[in-house]
Amino acid sequence: MFDATIATDLPKPAFYAELEQQARALLAGESNQVANAANFSALLYHAMPLLNWAGFYFLIDGELVVGPFQGKPACVRIAIGRGVCGTAAATKQTQLVPDVHAFADHIACDAASQSEIVIPLITRAGELLGVLDLDSPVPARFDEEDRKGLEALARVFVESIDGSLR
Ligand code: SME
Repeated sequence: MFDATIATDLPKPAFYAELEQQARALLAGESNQVANAANFSALLYHAMPLLNWAGFYFLIDGELVVGPFQGKPACVRIAIGRGVCGTAAATKQTQLVPDVHAFADHIACDAASQSEIVIPLITRAGELLGVLDLDSPVPARFDEEDRKGLEALARVFVESIDGSLR
């Protein structure tokens, strides 16, 4: 049994350092993409406060297709360039959206979502694997410290499945 409990009153850098350590331990010794994405999204969803969705969209045949996640059922396919996920994929830049209603092209999968952050997953070779998407029912849930912590966590996931890194 893996205990995903981290004190949520820790300062964010300490919280993310602990979460990164747990993610490394959880994914150690396994490189299957679906298995690691499933466990990784469960870890984040249960360890991080104030989330209503946490999971993956993978780049398959030129579009984003939903992968393992925690939360309500979601849109299955997102074109590159569409929505927050498609924008993160097109630009290969993290998209931090404090108010989804102010993001013109936001794709609402769960009406509860108020803010979100989407991190592109890039291999060391520079290839886009997909994106990691976290949604919150609270406006402005994510800040620059979350961006830093989540970008580091996304690297842990990518490294766990990217054979070229070992
Ligand atoms: N909000 C995303 C769509 C995916 S769901 O939130 C799970 C977007 O606009 O890209």
